[in-house]
Amino acid sequence: MRGQSPETTQGLPTGIEKYREALKGYLASERSEKTALSEAIAGILDTGGKRLRPVIALLSCEAVSGSYEMALPVAAAFELAHSASLVQDDIIDESALRHGAVATHKKYGETRAILISDMMIFEIFLELAKYGDMNLQQKRLAKLASLLGNAAKLTAEGEFFEMTLAERGSATEEEYFRLAGLKTGALFAAAAACGAVAGGGSAKEVEAAYGFGRDLGISFQVRDDILDIVGNEEATGKPLLKDLQNNASNMVLVHALSHADPYQKQAIHSMMYKKWFALQEVQTLMRTLDQLGSIDHANAVERSYAAKAKGALEVFPESSARSTLEQLTEGLGSRLK
Ligand code: IPE
Ligand code: IPE
Ligand code: MG
Ligand code: MG
Repeated sequence: MRGQSPETTQGLPTGIEKYREALKGYLASERSEKTALSEAIAGILDTGGKRLRPVIALLSCEAVSGSYEMALPVAAAFELAHSASLVQDDIIDESALRHGAVATHKKYGETRAILISDMMIFEIFLELAKYGDMNLQQKRLAKLASLLGNAAKLTAEGEFFEMTLAERGSATEEEYFRLAGLKTGALFAAAAACGAVAGGGSAKEVEAAYGFGRDLGISFQVRDDILDIVGNEEATGKPLLKDLQNNASNMVLVHALSHADPYQKQAIHSMMYKKWFALQEVQTLMRTLDQLGSIDHANAVERSYAAKAKGALEVFPESSARSTLEQLTEGLGSRLK
C-alpha cells in the first residue's frame, strides 16, 4: 500500500474538513423536527459517514464560482440519497454493521428501515425546494432535479444489476465497470455536476465535472472492494469479506476468478455464501489472491480511474477548490475507510 501524505487523515485530505463541517452545520440547522422518524434520520446523517458526495458538490461549485454556498441544498440532497441507498444496500447485502454501529435495519427492524429510507428520499424534494428562495435560474434548478433523479435511477439499476450478476455466479471485468459506474459512479458524477450547475458553471464545466465524478466513483468503488478484502473492520466500520459471502461483484474477486486455475477457483468458490470463515480458509484466500496478483491489479485499476478523474479537472480554472479536489482524488486510493 502507498504511504499517506502528511496532510491526509486516513487518505482524506484535511482540506475537505471545512466542507464536511459546512454540510454538517447546514444539516443541523435544517433539522428542527423532533419526531421519532426524523430523529432516526438525524442520527444516521450524523454518524460516521465521510460525506464525500456533498463535499464534491460544494467543491465543484466553488471551483466554478469562487464560493460553495449555492450548492448547500443540493449537496445535502446527495447525502440524503446516498444515506438512503446505504440503508437499502445493507438490507440487500444482509450486512449488520455500518459506521462501526448496528446497521439501520438491525437497529430499527426492516419495516421501519424501509420508511426511514423513504423519508430520506422525500426530503430530497424539500432540499431542492430551498432554491425557491435563492437566486438560481429556473433552468438550473430543473437541471439539478434531472441530474439527481437520473443518478438515483442509475444507482438502483446498479444494485439490481449486481443481484443479477450474483445469481448468474460470475461477472466479466467489462460488466464490473458497468456496475461500478451505475451503483457508485452515478451519484459521484451527478454530485460533481450539480455543484457546477448551482455555481453557474458553463456547459463544458458541468460536463467535465460529471466525467470527473463518474471516474472518481469507479475508482472509489474499486478501493471499497479492496477494503472489503484486506481492510480493517475497525477502520471501515463494516464487515470484512461481505462481497465474497454474497458473491457480490468485487474488482479483486472478478480478477481472481477470471485468472484462477481450477484449484484456485475452488478455494474462492468454497467460501461463497458462508456465514463465517475459518482462519485457514482466509489464509488460503489471501495466498491465492497474492499468487494471482489480484490486489495489485485492483490497485492499478483504482489509480488509472483516479488519474482519469483528475485529468478532467483541468477544465476548471486553477483555485484552491480545484486543488482540494485533486488532493481528494489522489488521497482516496490510500483511504482506510
Ligand atoms: C459506501 O460509500 C458505499 C459505496 C459506494 C462503496 P461511502 O464509503 O462513501 O459511505 P460513507 O462514507 O460511510 O457514508
Ligand atoms: C453499494 O456498494 C453501493 C451503494 C450503496 C449503491 P457496496 O455494497 O460495496 O457498499 P458497502 O461496501 O456495503 O458500503
Ligand atoms: Mg453493501
Ligand atoms: Mg463494498
